[in-house]
Amino acid sequence: MYKIIDGKKVASEIKREIAGEVAKLKREGKKIPHLAAILVGNNGSSETYVANKVKDCEEVGFKSTLIRFGSEITETVLLEKIEELNNDPDIDGFIVQLPLPAHISENKVIEAIDPRKDADGFHPVNIGKMVIGLPGYLPATPYGIVELIRRYGIKTSGKNCVVIGRSNIVGRPVSILLSQKGMDATVTVVHSRTKNIEDIIICADIIIAAIGSPAFVKEDMVKNGAVVIDVGTTRVPDPRTKSGFKLVGDVDFESVAPKCSYITPVPGGVGPMTRVSLLRNTLIAAKKD
Ligand code: GUN
Repeated sequence: MYKIIDGKKVASEIKREIAGEVAKLKREGKKIPHLAAILVGNNGSSETYVANKVKDCEEVGFKSTLIRFGSEITETVLLEKIEELNNDPDIDGFIVQLPLPAHISENKVIEAIDPRKDADGFHPVNIGKMVIGLPGYLPATPYGIVELIRRYGIKTSGKNCVVIGRSNIVGRPVSILLSQKGMDATVTVVHSRTKNIEDIIICADIIIAAIGSPAFVKEDMVKNGAVVIDVGTTRVPDPRTKSGFKLVGDVDFESVAPKCSYITPVPGGVGPMTRVSLLRNTLIAAKKD
């Protein structure tokens, strides 16, 4: 019988730990961590993510600020706002929710964020530190995945790990973390141009699915006993839900789960862990002041 990796539960545990640290900072008269989020436009998924991030801050006792812009905002105005946050001593960390409208360069925006305030861990300086194993802000979703694996006591040393997807925010960084000393996995990254992708995925002891293609991973691609981490969160219309949509992962959960030793659900798997990673990075930033 497979075990569910309960990201919601682990995230709650970590949030309790962080809340304890915030209470201690308050008792000692130190600065309360403050996270800001910039949201451009009204992409439905981004609205939900950012609302949840703000809620998490309240739960652990952080200050939070949400800054909204319409989708017509110019790149220059957004870069000016980033510069303002870089220089605001009350803001410890901030994020710019992605994706951004097509007329704004995401790379330019990420590079404009002061690496010391880069709560998402997306800045090239922080990515570079991660690659060579220096302490820094780890990208939120990869860090959340690694923390889930650790807290469930899942062995990674010498295991075949296949990462599906090579995005800058999930696939590529998680592949680096898993191959580092301490995690010691043998990592293969597969993507849209990979030939015979099923033949590679079937050899995996651990599958990280991060391609954003609903139910891409099917039962016949998964080895018996595999650990499956599903990072996908595609919104699909569903008239039966209150919001009118549901989140669908990259894994066909119903058929794949019975073959697994461990599997993450969607929602309630990786998503809540991504959010606590942001809190962790902001707490580290606040303590550095
Ligand atoms: N869009 C999807 N995931 C993320 C994330 O972790 N951070 C930001 N800023 N945008 C995202």
